[in-house]
Amino acid sequence: MSSGPYFTHKGIVFPGTNFYPVEHLNYVENEFQLMDDDVVSVVYPKSGTHWMGEILSLIRQDGDPTWARSVLMWKRIPWIESAATKDIVLNYAPPRYMSSHLPFQLFPKSFLHSKAKAIYTVRNLKDVLVSSFYFHKAYKRMRDPGTMQDLLDSFLNGNSIFGSWFDHVKGWLAMKDKPNVLINTYEEMQQDLRGSVERICRFLGKELTSQQIDSVVENASFETMKDNKMSNFSQASDEDMDHSKGKLMREGKSGIWKNYLTVAQNEQFDRVYQEKMKGVNVTFPWD
Ligand code: A3P
Repeated sequence: MSSGPYFTHKGIVFPGTNFYPVEHLNYVENEFQLMDDDVVSVVYPKSGTHWMGEILSLIRQDGDPTWARSVLMWKRIPWIESAATKDIVLNYAPPRYMSSHLPFQLFPKSFLHSKAKAIYTVRNLKDVLVSSFYFHKAYKRMRDPGTMQDLLDSFLNGNSIFGSWFDHVKGWLAMKDKPNVLINTYEEMQQDLRGSVERICRFLGKELTSQQIDSVVENASFETMKDNKMSNFSQASDEDMDHSKGKLMREGKSGIWKNYLTVAQNEQFDRVYQEKMKGVNVTFPWD
């Protein structure tokens, strides 16, 4: 069982200093300049980061899938907080489309004074839990999750990577009335991908034709993406990922938790969830 080189920075747990050296996290928070035409997809891990990355890559290219099929995801939509993609971010010809897992308090401060757009995607934490459980078993940069109960406890206690889900969601929801922030859910994308793509295009000011939207929807579907080796994580090195133990594109569904959580675990979850989300005036598809 790997313990993983996790560390805590400003109260937030990060999965290792290789990708997230503290100097880099400080640089991203305090010095990195977001530009007005930047687009950042912010997603709590296992909530649809790669899905939104694919959608945005396709929208950026007006529905043409060539880029998404020929360039690795992390080069198309680089993570702003990862030192591994720093040079890609800095050399990116605008408009830059980027990703982040950061909680709002560690997100670049320059966001507050720019017109850069942020799309925040939330997924039902019960499904995030199941998705994380299987992914963490295979992805060597993550700690072994132990049992489902162990991981459930750590999520409910707020000891998960990139911080407590509750704080992450509340921090970003506090920005929801800003004109350059769009709140989105994994579940809405599941229910009506085309509607979500249209909403994202309106938010970005991108006018795509009906055929171009069709192409985004088709190429960002689970079926197409799971076979796109530029997006499905199959190119992760053996050093990072034990491909015999799991994959990124596992089920791609909402409500999978029903097959994995016991009645007692579900009740434990609901008690904590209701307590921690008290006062949040947003109704999610799973509420
Ligand atoms: P599951 O593990 O439940 O299958 P992230 O990219 O943030 O790590 O999230 C990974 C989750 O998003 C996985 O969920 C994966 O299957 C799902 N996902 C990725 N692409 C998807 C798509 N096109 N449609 C639906 N779900 C997708």
